[in-house]
Amino acid sequence: MARSALLNVMTQAAMKAGRSLVRDFGEVQNLQVSVKGPADFVSNADTRSEEIVFKELSRVRPDWGFLMEERGAIEGRDPQHRWIVDPLDGTTNFLHGIPNFAVSIALERDGQIVAGVVFNPAQDELFVAEKGGGAFVNDRRIRVSARTRLPEALFGTGAPFLGRGDHAGFLYEFREVISETAGIRRMGAASLDLAYVAAGRFDGFWEKALKPWDVAAGSILVREAGGFVTDMAGGKFDHVVGDIACGNEQLHKALVGLIGDATRKRAAAARAGAGTAAAA
Ligand code: IPD
Ligand code: CA
Ligand code: CA
Ligand code: CA
Repeated sequence: MARSALLNVMTQAAMKAGRSLVRDFGEVQNLQVSVKGPADFVSNADTRSEEIVFKELSRVRPDWGFLMEERGAIEGRDPQHRWIVDPLDGTTNFLHGIPNFAVSIALERDGQIVAGVVFNPAQDELFVAEKGGGAFVNDRRIRVSARTRLPEALFGTGAPFLGRGDHAGFLYEFREVISETAGIRRMGAASLDLAYVAAGRFDGFWEKALKPWDVAAGSILVREAGGFVTDMAGGKFDHVVGDIACGNEQLHKALVGLIGDATRKRAAAARAGAGTAAAA
């Protein structure tokens, strides 16, 4: 495949940061870990990786801004372009010695994602996509799955922890999807979940309230692999909001339908509960 110069820059940054992550993964017991919030950890592996990505990208485009998970927003002189970076997606996996984590880098131009790179350094898998250019893993073209039937379909998701996010709503969705499909996987790194949809490994994926750095690169991978990407109600996807449902045309539609059923059942249960409470 012919890659643009910018995609090469993104690839190099992701691979260099990925090598740093693999070194730290080998000595995970020596890392300093701090807790940002409930079940939300950061280690010096995250910050080292972020530093590498920041240096590599700002050396090549000194005027462009950043939105990075650990450093936050850094404004650039160029108002059109911004890098969106998760230096270690899957920190919990990483800290538990599970080799399912990634470096995720997206390029936003005038608010739209135009390129994305997701690199899993432990498995040496590099997923890349550019607007209009298709999606690839290790230079091989990838496409979303061709399955159309729910009983054969495998979905990825991510679950909010108890006390964080809409835990109760997720349990309704989980029940609805698991009872109609071949299964659900919760792999712990949203950028890789999306890359797996792009590669046709997962037939679809949904998750609520992700951050821009979790979904920006993965969403262009899915679209360039021929997939549909929307919010969880089938409306316009916004990487800044981070609610996402995706898959091939048929299974995306079916997934949005199941999530809608879950939402209605939850509302009915809440009404029944309110009625019982009122009668008591
Ligand atoms: C997390 C992962 C996980 C998702 C969480 C994210 P982090 O990112 O992508 O799969 O369920 O919502 O916060 O913190 O490991 O970069
Ligand atoms: Ca995090
Ligand atoms: Ca993340
Ligand atoms: Ca992260």
